[in-house]
Amino acid sequence: MEQKVSMIIFAAIASLAAFPALADGDVARGTSLFKRCSGCHTATDQNKVGPGLLGVVGRKAGTEAGYKYSGGMAKSDVVWDDTTLDAFLAAPRKVVQGTSMSVSIANATDRQDIIVYLHTLAKQ
Ligand code: HEC
Repeated sequence: MEQKVSMIIFAAIASLAAFPALADGDVARGTSLFKRCSGCHTATDQNKVGPGLLGVVGRKAGTEAGYKYSGGMAKSDVVWDDTTLDAFLAAPRKVVQGTSMSVSIANATDRQDIIVYLHTLAKQ
């Protein structure tokens, strides 16, 4: 019996480790980490050096109105979701060749928290 319980706990921990659930991301931490983005991005639809990030989750890359994207981003077929955002923030040029975004976030937890924050920027 004891062994069975520990097996279940082990399985639960193993599945958490294999699929780091985005729901586990820390929005407050992500809000604070967004300072690394806000030199270039607003959390609204106002464009700056980079496009406004309001509603970015679920958006096709390179389609924010009024923003002049690099050729690579404009013709990219990427749609921004948890997976593509994570890969892009880790290594922008591996996801969108020729992108003019050069900033990357090496730490996976930082990326996860930023992405959870980006989810809060949904258009109403
Ligand atoms: C030094 C300026 C700069 C910083 C800092 C920066 N970005 Fe960017 N970002 C850009 C530029 C410029 C683009 C447009 C790239 C292109 O056209 O290829 C962009 C594009 C993007 C896109 C694609 C948006 C779209 O409309 O398709 C996302 C998502 C993004 N950035 C997220 C972030 C996040 C999250 C951070 C902070 C961790 C960040 N960026 C930090 C300059 C920056």
